[in-house]
Amino acid sequence: MSTARRHERGLHLAAHPFAYPLMRGLARLGPVVRVPGLGVAVNDPHLARAVLLDGEHFRKDGPGSSGDLWTPILGPSVLLNMEGEPHRELRRRLASLFTPDYTRRLCAQVLAEPLHDLSMRLARGETVDLVDRMRILTGAAICSVIGLRDVDEHRARELFEDGERIVSSVKLTTRQLTGRRLRTAREVLDRIGEIAATAYRAGDETTVMGRMRRLGLSEPEARGAAAAFFLTGTETVATFLPRFIALLHDTGTLARVAADPALLDPAIDETMRITTPTPVMLRSVAAPTAIGPVAVHPGDRILIVTHNCARAHGPFDLDLPHPPVLHRLWFGAGPHFCLGYPLAMAEIRTIAQTLLAAAPLQVVRRRYARGVLIPTYRTLEIVSDLAVPTGGSRLPGR
Ligand code: HEM
Repeated sequence: MSTARRHERGLHLAAHPFAYPLMRGLARLGPVVRVPGLGVAVNDPHLARAVLLDGEHFRKDGPGSSGDLWTPILGPSVLLNMEGEPHRELRRRLASLFTPDYTRRLCAQVLAEPLHDLSMRLARGETVDLVDRMRILTGAAICSVIGLRDVDEHRARELFEDGERIVSSVKLTTRQLTGRRLRTAREVLDRIGEIAATAYRAGDETTVMGRMRRLGLSEPEARGAAAAFFLTGTETVATFLPRFIALLHDTGTLARVAADPALLDPAIDETMRITTPTPVMLRSVAAPTAIGPVAVHPGDRILIVTHNCARAHGPFDLDLPHPPVLHRLWFGAGPHFCLGYPLAMAEIRTIAQTLLAAAPLQVVRRRYARGVLIPTYRTLEIVSDLAVPTGGSRLPGR
């Protein structure tokens, strides 16, 4: 097994020691598999896309879908638990919220200081824990999105950890948050909602909250959207970049990508295909139909195993074109396609450019995170070979 494959597998197994082997095993059983007690797993990208595009039979607001999990803490109208005309109408109003141009400017502004600090550390030859740096970077980005401006490192980290507390209380088997976990989630999201509402009332159109007000969202709608962004848009990005750098390092492609800016987007896409930060998407069946050869009925829970769909295309290969059916499948497809895609890409590109500018990079130490929802490194320590070390010794990469 290649080094890259061994580490990626290690990350999945540390996060989900029982579910990951089961999930990969399902891929060998066929394109669609009914698993008693779990639901119907879809492992084929053509069928996955067909389910995602069919909002009539497959919904996110029914029993067993992820809406079940989020509605008690986010309210009933936060995109990811809506369907049909109300969902379409809210998406229409939000269509111009995260444009590529706006998100690029937002990232350039809010990430400038923490990225300068990161490049200085690498230039000085410091060993940098990229996982820890990502907390500050994505924390700063989400602070700005919900309406907190000019935050320091401490506040950015605090907000990141608030989100992490909620996400870490969700397991693959969690269908609803209850008791203490529900109370914690509500407390955190109420605080986020208050910050977002204050920014909404201020109405500054250079901010995300001010833009939502201009786009015609009511205060409760904008407040709910901010909470949804906070939950869906922080750890997904934060966990991706360490895996991106590790994968390029382990496959020996880091220097090539660093030397050719045209390879940055293909490298991000290919790493997304291998890592699939959101490995599974959930739907519930609203009306009888079939997925390929398998008949499904109301009450069935559908697990679109994006990870299996994407991995079927082979191991990491920077020169492997993606067939159209895989196009950005890791960000979803159809009506629920990731609203934050331009923001996620702007963050990832901006941070990746800073890291690659310090190439060659060595991974000197890494640990996998255990018991987390999104597989990730607990630490990924890197050093730049461009730098002249100011002290300390380097451990060999492993
Ligand atoms: C690497 C980063 C990210 C990945 C891999 C990712 C992945 C996804 C996927 C797969 C979906 C569709 C889920 C489904 O159909 O069941 C989705 C939806 C969504 N994402 Fe992202 N996402 C990322 C970053 C972000 C960011 C940065 C934000 C916003 C700040 C965001 C906001 C949303 C929202 C609001 C939805 C729900 C859209 C709807 O239901 O209409 N995401 N994301």
